[in-house]
Amino acid sequence: MNASTQNGSLDAADTKDRSTHCRLNDGGFITRSALIPWTRLNKPGLEGIQYKILNFDENRSYMVVLNTFDPGSRFAPHKHLGAVEIFMLSGSFFYDNGQVFADDFMLEAGGVTHAPGSDEGALMLAIFHGPLQILDNEGQVLVTVGIDEMYDLAKDNDAVAHLQKTQHRVALTSEG
Ligand SMILES: [Fe+2]
Repeated sequence: MNASTQNGSLDAADTKDRSTHCRLNDGGFITRSALIPWTRLNKPGLEGIQYKILNFDENRSYMVVLNTFDPGSRFAPHKHLGAVEIFMLSGSFFYDNGQVFADDFMLEAGGVTHAPGSDEGALMLAIFHGPLQILDNEGQVLVTVGIDEMYDLAKDNDAVAHLQKTQHRVALTSEG
């Protein structure tokens, strides 16, 4: 790592630096996801998920996540309070009414309740537009999972060094 990376200002030529992230002097940033550790989402009913937060805006419940499903995963029913856009990178997963394979794009609509699973495992890029609620058998909310919960778990796992809340918001909206 060179000194300019730590200061958050890089010239284009410096972006071959192999630290977890670098800030560009035009307001953008590059995150080297391969260098970020996976965090396990150890919430009831979602134990088969690992993730890396790539970007987020806590003021808009917006979060970009790389996540995996373990082979043989069966998730508890959950309700999405905002839509999720998914691009499948490898593997597959299924719902009661559909199956998603590598290279598929998937929209989970805001308000939907479902219980996906994966036989072979899956790797996907997911853009969250709101948190989700994990439900029990009677449809009661067991726990809500959103940016705060996922960020805190990732922080405990030393997986947030590349995330700086204010700077990420600036990168998305150009607001100060
Ligand atoms: Fe879902």
